[in-house]
Amino acid sequence: MTQPITKAIVPAAGLGTRLLPATKSQPKEMLSVGRKPVIQYVIEELQAAGLSHALIVTGRRKRAIEDHFDSDPQLVSALERAGNEAMLADLAYLEAKSRIFYTRQSPAKGLGHAVSLGAGFVGSDDCAVALGDTLIAAEDPSAPLRAMIAAHQDLGAAAVVAVEKVPLEEAFRYGIVTVSGAEPAPGEPVAMTDIVEKPPAGTAPTSLAVAARYVFSPAIFEALERTLPDKRGEIQLSDAIKVLIQMGEPVYAWLLHPDQRRYDVGNFESYFRTFIDFALADERYGYLVRKHIKTKAYEL
Ligand code: UTP
Repeated sequence: MTQPITKAIVPAAGLGTRLLPATKSQPKEMLSVGRKPVIQYVIEELQAAGLSHALIVTGRRKRAIEDHFDSDPQLVSALERAGNEAMLADLAYLEAKSRIFYTRQSPAKGLGHAVSLGAGFVGSDDCAVALGDTLIAAEDPSAPLRAMIAAHQDLGAAAVVAVEKVPLEEAFRYGIVTVSGAEPAPGEPVAMTDIVEKPPAGTAPTSLAVAARYVFSPAIFEALERTLPDKRGEIQLSDAIKVLIQMGEPVYAWLLHPDQRRYDVGNFESYFRTFIDFALADERYGYLVRKHIKTKAYEL
């Protein structure tokens, strides 16, 4: 019987320079999207996907992440004394549904390097990787990872990589993949034949962009060791996936369904878009945001 996949690596050590000054002293993964910091959505998604052990790769100026997931008996008893049930419910995420481990990447030498720091944690198991600055919005945000894990196990894959279609003119921002055969159908894994990290404008071979969720066999760590740094001296995860393909390992792309959307907070444009969409969808305050935006719309 195949072993369930229970471990995930969450890279959250990047410098977040595109979000300065907001990220001068706080991690971008702690930026609030609606009522929760981004990384809380990520951890909840992993828990719901059965990934009960998460290794968060942090770094300098990232201590707020550990504090956010640390229990706070003083705060809880103050809320209990005040009978503040609603706020206690908001802190329910602190009840251990999974174990969170931390390691530091200092200095930040690229996403691939951050993932390589999880080698000892993962050992000889398969694992998932979920970027700490990127959310999945869907009726069930854990559905893509669950399906990718199932596909990974069915296919005996070395990697299953979530992808989404992006406008070609935006492809230079992403890892872009090429697959064998025709366009993939959502939820159907297709063999990946190539991947290029942030292709220069106008050179992207396809509009299929890596979507911040991955499932790997331990072969990824061997590929990471063989991966050369890019021109900025960073080890890129996309380059390691290319090495996996060159090693002859089975690598698949898994296209998100149209109602499963990837949102990141990596730059202010995408952060604002993410915040607005989540605030509009908020169960408690969404109607007020909608009312506000309607009023504003008359002024635009
Ligand atoms: P980005 O590619 O957005 O890079 O990271 P960045 O360094 O955080 O941001 P800029 O370019 O300086 O604005 C995508 C994810 O990978 C993590 C980040 O924390 C983020 O969750 N990451 C990136 C690392 O953990 N280590 C790195 O060296 C780079």
